[in-house]
Amino acid sequence: MEQYDFGIVGLGVMGRNLLLNMADHGFAVAGLDLDTEKATALEAEAGQGQRVAGTTSALQFVGMLQRPRALMLLVPAGKPVDAAIATLLPHLEAGDIIVDGGNTYFTDTDRRVSELAEKGIHFFGMGISGGERGARFGPSMMPGGDRGAYERLRPVFEAIAAKVNDEPCVAYMGNGSAGNYVKMVHNGIEYGIMQLIAETYDFLKRGVGLPEDRLQQTFESWNTTELSSFLIEITGEILKKMDEETGERLVNVISDWARAKGTGKWTSQNAMDLQVPVPTIDVAVTMRDLSKFKKERVQAATLLRWDPLKHSETDLDQLLEKLKNAYYFAMTTIYAQGLAQLRVASDTYTYELRLDEVVRIWRGGCIIRAACLEDFRRAYQRNPGLPNLLLDDQIGSRIVRIQPDIRTIVLEAVIRGIPLPAYMSALAYFDAYRSETLPTNLIQAQRDYFGAHQYERLDREGSFHTQWQ
Ligand code: 6PG
Repeated sequence: MEQYDFGIVGLGVMGRNLLLNMADHGFAVAGLDLDTEKATALEAEAGQGQRVAGTTSALQFVGMLQRPRALMLLVPAGKPVDAAIATLLPHLEAGDIIVDGGNTYFTDTDRRVSELAEKGIHFFGMGISGGERGARFGPSMMPGGDRGAYERLRPVFEAIAAKVNDEPCVAYMGNGSAGNYVKMVHNGIEYGIMQLIAETYDFLKRGVGLPEDRLQQTFESWNTTELSSFLIEITGEILKKMDEETGERLVNVISDWARAKGTGKWTSQNAMDLQVPVPTIDVAVTMRDLSKFKKERVQAATLLRWDPLKHSETDLDQLLEKLKNAYYFAMTTIYAQGLAQLRVASDTYTYELRLDEVVRIWRGGCIIRAACLEDFRRAYQRNPGLPNLLLDDQIGSRIVRIQPDIRTIVLEAVIRGIPLPAYMSALAYFDAYRSETLPTNLIQAQRDYFGAHQYERLDREGSFHTQWQ
């Protein structure tokens, strides 16, 4: 029987696209799906001379794979992953590798890594970003697991990944669940930037009253500057799209409550567990939640009505220039928060992450790809132990230079009554992070006052309690 280089389990859109991507790069790939139609359609979809085969039998599938076997699960996160492992396990042997390519919560991966290690099977959690198109033509991939076993996967992953200056957007991330963790934070940053873009749109549309054409052109032109990124690019395209039914811009007929699968929430939740502040990611999760209170918002729109203060007479071109800087400032701060979380997570969970590599593989293929990542990569190359991007000389001084502009934009939004929580939290994070002293001394004193929780002093060691009353 022909031996296949790689196996894919789950031939939904992502699985099928990754499989065809591998076939394009000359690998022989076998696919397994319980759905006969999906399994058989595969061979028809493959190009001439490509070696692909689909089956519905786990036994046959495992038998087709070259040893040590390398196979990837593209099934929904949670129970389906455990079910797929249970089906395959009786046919696998020590040295084989299972990769989970879903958005799995990292602690589930840790559990699976240790359960399967008992049988000598290597388990990888791998974040894949870039959606359907990315999977087909070049995703960014974040694999974590056993370093030695990664060598078996490397040629396939490097071949199918997106490339930036010939460098593949994939790298071994670290131990255990490192890959899922990095992807989770990628998504947290994704939430933050999407919220930031949505606020920019709202500020320009409702706050400034910018005509829709000009609004669309603003995003389109930003994409040719240092703000260039996938999310800015697609925003320019989205704002252009017309609705065939109504003849209106499609975005204007889309409801204003957002859904979420939850990876942004996980990022925030775990940041709280690790006690790392990521306020702009938190606020992005919160705003998706607030958007769902549509009925109450409609009621409040009348009840809590308020006529905006007369706004300042800033020249429109100047305002747009300041907004561009404010966006750059806030975007950098969002990356800084997510990467600071990765730094702490790496120490806590012993992932041994290299942040220059993380940033490198985010430059292409993924949803948060952006021109600025090249600068961020250099910052981590200059100083691999950098605790926060804002402490890099070059990035820090640029942020300091443009900070007056985010202050102006936030003020303009406040007097116009337009909510810019992502911009505001990015600025507050910056102001708090650069404060040598914070008012937390007062909080310490309050805790001791009402709960005798004690406090530390600046002038000597130890814990103290005062009879305040
Ligand atoms: C990616 C995306 C992808 C998915 C998000 C959507 O990197 O390709 O992040 O993983 O589109 O999970 O997340 P929400 O449903 O939570 O917005």
